[in-house]
Amino acid sequence: MSNSADKLGYGSLQLDRTGQAEAFDAIGDRYDEAFPHKEGQVASAEWLIRSLSAGSRVLDLGCGTGVPTAQQLAEAGFEVVGVDLSDRMVALAHENVPTGGFHQADIADLRPGGPLDLGGFDAVTAFFALLMLPRAEIPLALETVHHLLVPGGLFTLSMVEADVDDFSIPFIGSTIRVSGYLREELREVVEATGFEIVEESSYTYAPATADVPPEVQIFLRCRRRA
Ligand SMILES: C[S@@+](CC[C@H](N)C(=O)[O-])C[C@H]1O[C@@H](n2cnc3c(N)ncnc32)[C@H](O)[C@@H]1O
Repeated sequence: MSNSADKLGYGSLQLDRTGQAEAFDAIGDRYDEAFPHKEGQVASAEWLIRSLSAGSRVLDLGCGTGVPTAQQLAEAGFEVVGVDLSDRMVALAHENVPTGGFHQADIADLRPGGPLDLGGFDAVTAFFALLMLPRAEIPLALETVHHLLVPGGLFTLSMVEADVDDFSIPFIGSTIRVSGYLREELREVVEATGFEIVEESSYTYAPATADVPPEVQIFLRCRRRA
């Protein structure tokens, strides 16, 4: 690992991705059927479309199938680049958004001095992607986003509100590990890595069974401080 990566703090971390990509490889195109609620992603991408000029470069971290976000951004005339750990998700994104540039890679690969250099971006999206990382890595991923953005660049992310760290959950026939924060702590982590939160929204979805609490999805729309 390079010195700059060590400076970012990855140097002392063991990255454990066991099972994470495999779960999404297995889910494949059933993912969009299983998670039909995309209002927050669509509204956040609309914010980017309103705010950026045509031809802007936008990175979709943990792009999944490319639907709806990469597709929406490509149709708006942006140069769209997507990154996802799952080969199957990257293949689906290629099919769904033929004009996008998609890479099978880890968010950590984009760190300063890391193995994948995609250049700079006017905006970055990370919808339900950083929740796939242990908490110790989330500030590092946010610093990576900060590094990838031009000064004043835009960043929009979503997380599920939950006070958990690297917590195993059943997920459409597989098991994945997820992390989260309560809302105030999420704001603090994002602001501490050099972002101004300019808009926020949340959505509550009742689960199919009554014995599980509703899922609260938080969407933050942010600007990189210079
Ligand atoms: C919950 S899905 C969200 C997909 C899409 N952003 C959406 O909102 O529909 C999380 C995605 O992140 C990808 N992922 C998980 N860990 C990752 C990592 N370390 N680096 C890059 N992508 C990752 C998964 O393969 C999956 O496609």
